[in-house]
Amino acid sequence: MNAPARKTMIAGNWKLNKTIREAIELVTLLKRRLCDVENTDVVVCPPYTAISDVGEILAESEIKLGGQDLYWEDKGAFTGEISGAMLKEAGANFVIVGHSERRQFFNETNETVNKKIKAALKNSLTPIVCIGETLEEREGGRTFQVIGAQFKGAFGNFSREEMKKVILAYEPVWAIGTGKVATPQQAQEVHAFIRKELWNAFGEAVASGLRILYGGSVKPGNISDLIKEVDIDGALVGGASLEADQFSELVKQAMVIAPLRGLE
Ligand code: PGA
Repeated sequence: MNAPARKTMIAGNWKLNKTIREAIELVTLLKRRLCDVENTDVVVCPPYTAISDVGEILAESEIKLGGQDLYWEDKGAFTGEISGAMLKEAGANFVIVGHSERRQFFNETNETVNKKIKAALKNSLTPIVCIGETLEEREGGRTFQVIGAQFKGAFGNFSREEMKKVILAYEPVWAIGTGKVATPQQAQEVHAFIRKELWNAFGEAVASGLRILYGGSVKPGNISDLIKEVDIDGALVGGASLEADQFSELVKQAMVIAPLRGLE
């Protein structure tokens, strides 16, 4: 079997869930169940209060650590915020940027997303940048327009070298936490569009090397069909990442498909 051109990634976004004790419990189970991970990158993104403890437990494991957000300044009078350097010190190598919940509830804009991605790269964190349309936008026939604008807003002033270090996540807002997953064909259509935008803006090498994850009601039962699509390189998982059985089963399903996919 050929090696996949783009390594599959499964990232768990715990959102506002898990006390320190619960986080330790979950990650201890995950570490045990996923000790033989191969062909797939696994990342967990706990809340800030638990990130150091989770990082310590994961230190010698195959599972990697990410933050759920960051601020673009390194330090200063920004109450409630956290910097890239702080995440890095806690053991993180990844950070989610521009999640639709941040855009919806916390006034995240394309401009702040852009600054945050730059700050992540400056601190050697790999940003997982989320873009996606609402139901109203999809039903109004504006999906590609919205995705295109989010893409340009996030990466307008990026160099090829910077862009290579980014991971994208297509998360249709109507599929997040609703149980209403996009069909593999619906997701693939948008992933292909994003890859074309990447190609136009940054050239073939960046477009074909960059991973685009899908997010929105991903479960053990639908991950395989999603990542069989040529442009879907993994998943950003919310609800199903909160429980060890479900998340490890989901990763195992992905590991079965991983060696077969991504061959363009
Ligand atoms: P969900 O969340 O899997 O619960 O739909 C996905 C996400 O918000 O990243």
